[in-house]
Amino acid sequence: MYFSIFACLFILKKMIRLLNNYELTTYNTFGLRAYAKRFFEFTESEELSIFLQREKLPEKYLIMGGGSNLLFQSDFDGLVIFPNIPGVVEEHEDRSFTYLEAGAGVEWDELVRLSVHYGLGGLENLSLIPGKVGASPVQNIGAYGVEAKDRIHLVRAIDLATGQRLEFTNEQCRFAYRDSVFKNELKNKLVVTSVVFKLDKFPEFKLEYGALKQEVERLGEVNLVNIRQAVINIRESKLPDPQKLGNAGSFFKNPVIDAHVAQQIIDNYERVPHYQTPDEGKIKLAAGWLIEQCGWKGYRDGNVGVHADQALVLVNYGGAKGSELVQLANKIQTSVFDKFGVKLMPEVNIIGG
Ligand code: EPU
Repeated sequence: MYFSIFACLFILKKMIRLLNNYELTTYNTFGLRAYAKRFFEFTESEELSIFLQREKLPEKYLIMGGGSNLLFQSDFDGLVIFPNIPGVVEEHEDRSFTYLEAGAGVEWDELVRLSVHYGLGGLENLSLIPGKVGASPVQNIGAYGVEAKDRIHLVRAIDLATGQRLEFTNEQCRFAYRDSVFKNELKNKLVVTSVVFKLDKFPEFKLEYGALKQEVERLGEVNLVNIRQAVINIRESKLPDPQKLGNAGSFFKNPVIDAHVAQQIIDNYERVPHYQTPDEGKIKLAAGWLIEQCGWKGYRDGNVGVHADQALVLVNYGGAKGSELVQLANKIQTSVFDKFGVKLMPEVNIIGG
């Protein structure tokens, strides 16, 4: 049953653009200057299927969302595919849940805002994460004890080889920490066109992470609106606004390492933040803490640096080159490895170079 308030929240406007030598500076949150040889934007999934019938997919292509996880080291000498599909509709509901389908091009935080506005629970802890809905299953975005996988019901996509529509259940997405089948076996093989989220009509709150509970209680009653506001307040206090200071959120993933290696670090240092993981015999450490211990927090070298409030965030102070950020990231990786024997892996996707 396609009904509802949600259906009329967006006026669907069809748009297809195929452009040459297109500037991507405002399409990546690092604000790095880069050009795409060709740029294909569409607002309906059929347009991609038609495009794929007409044109052979070039060897080099890049599927882009909100650009909040991309680092351009050079121009992109290929085709950028930009699925700017709008719309949030209520797909169906049952006694406990409302299933909302959101287009890949919807701003993630707009979806969270809408869900909270209509009293639907499940996404509130993921407030203010930059980027678009299409990237949420690929990256399995997460924050404050919640991951997108907890709420993703279905992922709809187009197969780039055949132009056919595909649908993935939550299980088929093979979600893990900042990971999914779309980053592995199916990497670059399909374009996510929409995601169906399963949201609670009778929300249960998740407040265990860090200072979240404290901040919610400071705001008053424990409800969806206050949780969203508390998450926004915490994020704004630690993470720089990409509109003001170029960054891509966490630059590295938190390392998941053998428990005995983690234990040596925990024994040797005071108050080491660490977390249990679903993998037995593994512990997740906080990369931000490891980087801070190596003295990088607040470091600046010319146009690039390490954020003063969250060492996991690398920043472009303006006019930086992607290669400068990569050099800084390499130095950080080396020093963390030398001090702790832990290898940090980038969370951002490094393009070109
Ligand atoms: N910490 C430090 N120094 C720092 C940064 C962090 O000691 O400079 C310590 C904190 O005190 C805390 C622990 O490390 O004990 C974890 O820090 P925080 O709560 O800030 O979270 P995080 O592990 O650094 C992850 C996600 C963030 C997400 C937050 C909140 C990853 C790679 N990052 O960061 O996601 O917002 O948790 O849930 O998992 C992103 O992916 O872009 C992102 C911002």
